[in-house]
Amino acid sequence: MSEIPILQTRALHRNFGAVTAAKNVEVAIRRGEVVGVIGSNGAGKTTFINMVTGYLAPSSGAIDFDGRSILGKAPRQITRMGMARSFQVAQLFPELTVLDNMLIALSAAESPRPSFLKPLRTPARIARAEAALAEFGVLEMRDRTVTAVPQGTRKLVDIAMALIGEPKMLLLDEPTSGVAVEEKFPLMDAVMAAVKKHGVTVLFVEHDMEIVARYVDRILAFYAGEVIADGAPDAVLDDARVRELVVGHGPKRKAS
Ligand SMILES: Nc1ncnc2c1ncn2[C@@H]1O[C@H](COP(=O)(O)OP(=O)(O)OP(=O)(O)O)[C@@H](O)[C@H]1O
Ligand SMILES: [Mg+2]
Repeated sequence: MSEIPILQTRALHRNFGAVTAAKNVEVAIRRGEVVGVIGSNGAGKTTFINMVTGYLAPSSGAIDFDGRSILGKAPRQITRMGMARSFQVAQLFPELTVLDNMLIALSAAESPRPSFLKPLRTPARIARAEAALAEFGVLEMRDRTVTAVPQGTRKLVDIAMALIGEPKMLLLDEPTSGVAVEEKFPLMDAVMAAVKKHGVTVLFVEHDMEIVARYVDRILAFYAGEVIADGAPDAVLDDARVRELVVGHGPKRKAS
């Protein structure tokens, strides 16, 4: 492989007291890949995302994003390099409207130090925010406050906010958690259509193996802070250790 991976980690470790949340994590993500991260509760999935986005310092190891080390950089700097993320619980301003949340994200993406003295609602920003909401099929929610929209819409707005800065890579921590079962596939369809359109590399954490199998090119399986399998979805989901330690005794994956 001649191309430099968009994200590469080497010998990444992180302890919390006696707990090993990351152990020798070595991954190389290629540009344009859609990667699913699986693992039981406490396996180290969020820890991995937090380290590569600058929210958590590794105990040791190296992380390169887009060919440059991001060790020691603040989350905001890493975001400006082109790495966007969403959180396990959507981070929105609940009392503001959907549109105003988008405008705040856009203003933050445009300027490293958004000024509260400059008007937020410029016609150009509103047009861009509306286009992004339309792309996710939630434009009709624009004037509702976040507290008044369904959980699936909140998740979509959170992801639309992460994408509006036109990142190179997007990390989603459980994009479908808390979303009604029947809304999960439509939500992921909308997200995947948007990321393919924008050519964004995606890594997302997901507990639902049907979602993972449907959308990803590749799976990273975590257990006790370690990557125990990394490869094509079929191979990883059929791996004996993954079946035992990750997929557990859950429903067997349907043949497709
Ligand atoms: N800030 C912290 N302080 C102490 N321990 C932590 C902290 N963050 C994570 N841990 C521990 O590190 C381990 C990995 O946690 P992490 O949140 O990465 O798991 P996860 O795979 O995201 O799990 P989940 O599926 O429940 O979200 C767990 O044992 C967790 O308790
Ligand atoms: Mg987590």
